[in-house]
Amino acid sequence: MIRRATGPECEATIAEAAALIREGRLVGFPTETVYGLGADATSDTAVAAVFNAKQRPEFNPLIIHIANEDAARRLVEFNDPAARLAEVFWPGALSLILTRRPDCPVSLLAGAGLDTLALRVPDHEIALALLIAAERPIAAPSANLSGHISPTRVGHVAESLGTAIDLILDGGPCRLGVESTVLDLTGDVPTILRPGGVTREELEDAIGPVRVLSEMNSTPSSPGMQASHYAPGLSLRIGARDVRDGEALLSFGRHDLTGCAAECNLSPTGDLAEAAANLFTMIRALDRPEYSGIAAMTVPDEGLGCAINDRLKRAAAPR
Ligand code: TXA
Ligand code: MG
Repeated sequence: MIRRATGPECEATIAEAAALIREGRLVGFPTETVYGLGADATSDTAVAAVFNAKQRPEFNPLIIHIANEDAARRLVEFNDPAARLAEVFWPGALSLILTRRPDCPVSLLAGAGLDTLALRVPDHEIALALLIAAERPIAAPSANLSGHISPTRVGHVAESLGTAIDLILDGGPCRLGVESTVLDLTGDVPTILRPGGVTREELEDAIGPVRVLSEMNSTPSSPGMQASHYAPGLSLRIGARDVRDGEALLSFGRHDLTGCAAECNLSPTGDLAEAAANLFTMIRALDRPEYSGIAAMTVPDEGLGCAINDRLKRAAAPR
């Protein structure tokens, strides 16, 4: 069931959603990045229901959402870079990987049995209200079937997981449109495991040098970095400089490619933030059987463009 979580009725709706979370049920909710499929992170059975609904391989750990830094400190060993990054970027699109505390109440299944957790404070009124009302951490992967495109509209969630979720909170379209940056702070050098809404440049301004793990494989040592991910139904090729017969074109900026069967332009003015916000919606719009494939132009590999190109490469990877 989809319920609007803005306007006059919203407090009652959030309270109802929080009660469902406490009962171990699943709730879809908006964040500034993408919609999440939320469950009580401290309950093994609730977390198992998330893996089941997403049909997700269980070695792939979930992001744990909390309302603020204090809540994070109760779950993991917070180090200096974490404190600095939380100050600058939380609430926001940055998930920090840190070592679990011995008394951490989060389900081991949520972390796929690792001794680390990915934590973030979402920058969204509805998500924060839900976290506060539920009074517990919420484990929430993106609310799509595993390996499919992330949902940035409430309708996407209903389409792919509608029957598996007890309640979906409608907060309108997601502002950022790409997932959070996943940053591992457990090693000597902070390492980006997944580029996302907070850029490498922004991180380096706050804490100095940051590495990017760019390997794309499917071993559990780099969970969630499967080469083929975000896969549309049609085949998608990247770096398009021409359009082949019957192809739909995912373009960026001004260009002179002609002859496509359909086109969506991520940002006609070449704005990377606008492109990120449009990315998943436009891939979905072009993913139709009447086209022979999707030809995607490359976007500049800088700032948010790194996250966009990462998602396009995964969508294009052999399956
Ligand atoms: O923006 C987002 O991050 C969204 C919204 C809902 O918050 N969530 C999201 O979650 O994208 P999900 O589950 O689709 O992606 C989580 C990513 C995966 O690549 C996973 O492997 C990685 O985070 N991850 C989670 N815990 C980890 C850990 N302990 N160590 C390494 N990677 C981890
Ligand atoms: Mg996901």
